[in-house]
Amino acid sequence: MADFFAGRHIWLTGASSGIGAALAQLLAERGAHLTLCARRQSVLEQVRAGLAHPERHRVVVLDLAAPEDVLAQVQGRAETDPVDMLINNAGIAQRGRADETHFSVDRRVMEVNYLGAVAMTKALMPALVASGRGVVASVASVSGLLGSQGRSAYSASKHALMGFMESLRAEMHGKLQVTVACPSWVKTQISVNSLTPAGDALGVMEPGIANGLSAEACAVAILDAIERGRDQVVIGKGISALAPTVKRFFPSIFTRMNRNRVYR
Ligand SMILES: NC(=O)c1ccc[n+]([C@@H]2O[C@H](COP(=O)([O-])OP(=O)(O)OC[C@H]3O[C@@H](n4cnc5c(N)ncnc54)[C@H](OP(=O)(O)O)[C@@H]3O)[C@@H](O)[C@H]2O)c1
Repeated sequence: MADFFAGRHIWLTGASSGIGAALAQLLAERGAHLTLCARRQSVLEQVRAGLAHPERHRVVVLDLAAPEDVLAQVQGRAETDPVDMLINNAGIAQRGRADETHFSVDRRVMEVNYLGAVAMTKALMPALVASGRGVVASVASVSGLLGSQGRSAYSASKHALMGFMESLRAEMHGKLQVTVACPSWVKTQISVNSLTPAGDALGVMEPGIANGLSAEACAVAILDAIERGRDQVVIGKGISALAPTVKRFFPSIFTRMNRNRVYR
């Protein structure tokens, strides 16, 4: 039987680093045709050159912080190109208390993580539905299931993404598969690239991230969830991955735990 991903035309955001670069490797090995998206063209070209069958894949430079531009840019291409899967993976994190974080940081995180993904989804949705086997998979976070100290903007953006995707799943039942992955700590550049309260890059590899799941293991779990048609999966290890379950069944215990520790 042919591999589930073989021959599929897949748009992948955040393909230049971390989980996205790992997804690109696995998907190329499994025979997909990839459109690799991010801001850094030269890095995307390096990723493409390292994939199985680089000639099958292409690079599209886009900045999700300008969602209206993304909508117009991607809509234009989707009118002519085949597409049967979108993986909304790109994202940016934030560190710092809400009362010290500049409003421009809240806006930027929401634009990239939420409105950017919404723009990609709306631009490609007609083509995805027309393909007859369309999939929208979004990489949210455990932070989409709970709020943590120092993560107000990030957590809000991931909750918003999950709410959008849950509505879309209900609306498009039978026409589109909608899968959401919620990783906990994964070893990538996410904390290094996180925005400080003033909007600068944090530049720190945090211990929780350094000791997290590998990007490859996370990518394997995301592809498994897509292949199985799962609605939502939590991916990770330890208390961070367990925290959403504690919150769901023991909310007052979670509230106390959440004052003393950061789970995402
Ligand atoms: N690592 C974790 O512990 C963890 C846990 C839960 C969820 N996640 C989620 O996993 C996803 C991937 O993150 P990662 O951990 O792989 O982090 P990463 O190594 O920092 O990669 C982030 C990716 O997003 C792209 N990106 C950032 N801002 C962008 C923008 N304005 N426009 C277009 N692309 C942009 C980056 O590419 P350019 O810089 O080239 O634009 C890069 O490819 C994110 O949605 C993140 O929230 C990560």
